[in-house]
This record gives sequence, C-alpha cells and structure tokens, in this order.
Amino acid sequence: MRAASRPSMAKSLTPLFRPVTALVLCGAIGVLATGCGTENVDKARGRVLFVQKCGQCHTLAEAATSGVQGPDLDNAFSEARANGEDQDTIAGVVKAQIDFPRPSTTNPAVSMPKELVTGQSADDVAAYVGSVAGVPGIGPPTVPGGPGAQVFANNGCGGCHTLAAANSGGTTGPDLDKVLPGQSAAEITKSIVDPNAKVTPGYPANVMPQTFKTAIPAPMLKQLVAYLISSTSGGKSKG
Ligand code: HEC
Ligand code: HEC
Repeated sequence: MRAASRPSMAKSLTPLFRPVTALVLCGAIGVLATGCGTENVDKARGRVLFVQKCGQCHTLAEAATSGVQGPDLDNAFSEARANGEDQDTIAGVVKAQIDFPRPSTTNPAVSMPKELVTGQSADDVAAYVGSVAGVPGIGPPTVPGGPGAQVFANNGCGGCHTLAAANSGGTTGPDLDKVLPGQSAAEITKSIVDPNAKVTPGYPANVMPQTFKTAIPAPMLKQLVAYLISSTSGGKSKG
C-alpha cells in the first residue's frame, strides 16, 4: 500500500487503491470538491508531533522551532499563502512531502526521512503545518506563568507530561508533579538534554525527544528548569 500510493504509479492502480490516490492528489493539485477537508484532524496533537519529529530540521514560527537542515517552512509557504492558497492545499503539499520526501536539492547528506509520521499522525501534522506555515506575524501562543512556562509550551512538553501549573495532562511521559519534587536543577536538566541517561522506570526509552539539548538555547533551558522546580516543589530543591 505504501509503494502503491506513489503518484507516479497512479495509472496502474487497481480500484482498491483509489482512495489513497485521491488523498495524494489533494496534495499534488490542491483541494478538489471532496475528501480533502480538515475534518477529523487534531492540530494540537499535530503541533506536539511537529516539535518532536520535524522541528530539529525545520524552522516554523508558530511551533517555535528553529532547525536549519531543511527549509524554513514559513518561507516555503508564505508566497503560496499570500497568493490565496488555503490551509487544506498547503496541508496536502506537506502530507505529500511526509509520505514521499523529495531527495534534498541542496545537501544530499541531509535528506528528509520517509514516513516520520504515518496515518492519523501524518494527517494531524500536515493539518497543523497547513494552518500556520507562512501566516504573516505568527508566533507561538503566549501562555501565562513567565518565561519558563513559555519554553515548556513552545516545546510541546505538555503534550506528553502532566504539569498542573501548565494545565497540561499528557500521559506519554511521567507526571512531572509527582516525579520532580526533591530533584535538583542539575538532575532535571540532565533528564531534558539527555533523556536516555536515566530512563524513568515504567516508561519507554527513546520516546522523549533527544533533541532538546540543541533545540533549547541554554538561557531558556535555565528558565525552563527554574519553572519546573518552582511549580512542582515549592523551592525544596537543592538547586
Ligand atoms: C533530518 C531532517 C529533516 C526532518 C526530521 C524533517 N525534514 Fe522536512 N525537509 C528536510 C529537507 C533537507 C528538505 C528539503 C528537500 C529538498 O531539498 O527539496 C525538507 C523539505 C520539507 C518540506 C518541503 C518544503 C518546500 O520547500 O517545499 C516540507 C513541507 C517538510 N520538509 C515538512 C516536514 C515535516 C512535516 C517533518 C516532520 C514530520 C519534516 N519535514 C521532518 C529535512 C527534514
Ligand atoms: C513525545 C513525548 C515527550 C515529550 C514531547 C517530552 N517528554 Fe519528557 N519524557 C517522556 C518520557 C516517555 C519520559 C520517561 C522516559 C525517559 O526518562 O526518557 C520522559 C521523562 C522526562 C523527565 C524525567 C522525569 C523523571 O523521572 O525524573 C523530565 C524532567 C522530562 N521528561 C521533562 C520534559 C520536558 C521539560 C519536556 C519539554 C522540553 C519534555 N519532557 C518533552 C516523554 C516526553
């Protein structure tokens, strides 16, 4: 099914594969009358996945990511958006790139891996990017709680972690209100920049992104850790 949905093979497709073809065509030639809408997508989930899977290579203002290995996605889509392309069309282009990444034109050593996200996750990421890429003046949503809270929000931590102060209820990773009290700033910092150094018992390794060491500049990492300490242990930490 993966190989069969390549656009180049469209002519040889059996009826069984037509729905998949239709989806790809939405990306290739824009939104037709049917089947390319944004129903049933979760853009908030798409944002978390984008930060996790795409942000290390792509700059996207709304996601507060600043990767440079791939093109800046605001630049990539600002012209299309200014020319009136709607978010479904842009989402279709993004979906096609996720499913069938073009080999890199500038640096063959850094090509985009195929199928970093699949199925519903790919739809969610594409819909999210389609709704924000190249929107003039867009930035990450501002949250209350100060600079550390903003770093927590920008990096999608709440998508995987519960933290009462941030109003987040993610359950993929441990409940930070439970595990952080009593930990030092050094221990918490280590958990963020080198998650596999000490994997929380009962949770899988390699799920927490391994990219925060480079993705979060040092001053912001400090703000983030200070925020986590003040919001979970009331200053009990030895710092
Ligand atoms: C390892 C780095 C890397 C990762 C991770 C990555 N990309 Fe890419 N991406 C690239 C490169 C390199 C290109 C440029 C391909 C080319 O030269 O045409 C690219 C191109 C794109 C384009 C086309 C932009 C344009 O100018 O038309 C889109 C859209 C895109 N990526 C979205 C994503 C999404 C969404 C994710 C996460 C699911 C992702 N990328 C993850 C490296 C990456
Ligand atoms: C995609 C899901 C995901 C995201 C996003 C994520 N984490 Fe995690 N995190 C996990 C998982 C799973 C674990 C437990 C396994 C491990 O230790 O790596 C974990 C572990 C941790 C720990 C160690 C907890 C302990 O037991 O001491 C800290 C601290 C933490 N994360 C903070 C963060 C912060 C801060 C962010 C955002 C910058 C973040 N995480 C983003 C999934 C995630």
